[in-house]
Amino acid sequence: MIAEARAAEAAIIDGRAFADTLGERIARQVGDFAAQTGRAPGLAVVLVGTDPASEIYVRSKGRMARKLGMESFEHVLPASVSQAELMALVARLNADEAVDGILVQLPLPGDLDSLAVIEAIDPSKDVDGLHPVNAGYLASGLPGLVSCTPLGCLMLLQDSLGDLSGLDAIVVGRSILVGKPMAQLLLGANCTVTMAHSRTRDLAAKVGRADIVVAAVGSAEMIRGEWIKPGATVIDVGTSRVIRDGRTCLVGDVDFAGASQRARAITPVPGGVGPMTIMTLMHNTLIAAYRRTGLSAPKID
Ligand code: GUN
Repeated sequence: MIAEARAAEAAIIDGRAFADTLGERIARQVGDFAAQTGRAPGLAVVLVGTDPASEIYVRSKGRMARKLGMESFEHVLPASVSQAELMALVARLNADEAVDGILVQLPLPGDLDSLAVIEAIDPSKDVDGLHPVNAGYLASGLPGLVSCTPLGCLMLLQDSLGDLSGLDAIVVGRSILVGKPMAQLLLGANCTVTMAHSRTRDLAAKVGRADIVVAAVGSAEMIRGEWIKPGATVIDVGTSRVIRDGRTCLVGDVDFAGASQRARAITPVPGGVGPMTIMTLMHNTLIAAYRRTGLSAPKID
């Protein structure tokens, strides 16, 4: 009985283990790059203000870059910084030959215009893949730099499922950071893609038809387990803090316990997509460094 129940439960997609393996490969390639060029790839991360979650993200990005042998340049600016001062920093980083990747942590505080800042970043250093030039390359199927979180989701899906050709995928959420590039990546991998969002009608039925569900809405457990098609693969990008039995815990956009009874494989929260996002940022920085130097970049997979 117990064995039968267990057999029906979804496999856990271990993003931490995948990211660790990817990190080992990146560290070796960083060494190769340094041997060929005499310098390490450089990542500049810009934090404006003192948002505690952003401070943790920025610190961990710098730590990971150093761990893999890259140069890390961390710029912390007060929330009172002017748009012009922030743009001037981006211009300096664009011109700095030691910097291969630039990431400005979002959201920016106050009235700062994040789109203007993103557009000011040299697309060849836009390791976030957010510049409209990189978004356009992705939509056109051309090589550019791809947003870290969706790239990590694609890697996990291909590792779990192999060839994605012909599969029905639904992406729930249409942000420029995750939903839109995710849909483009799945399309590029020959999936038939539905993009769902806050105005989508009968989300349950649409989710229920999908072989692949990518949930990126930022709303705790809004995708119910009973919506999931039996045998589907579920990637949960959401992280929300909720109080359970008097304790704060982290949950995703998907009802994990319910979905696990129907899916063939599912990412946990935490430990699924999260660890991949930082490693794909390292991957993008390495790729940017190779391309900017005119050397052929190592293979992505
Ligand atoms: N804030 C949360 N996620 C991200 C990300 O992937 N990139 C940037 N720049 N800011 C973020």
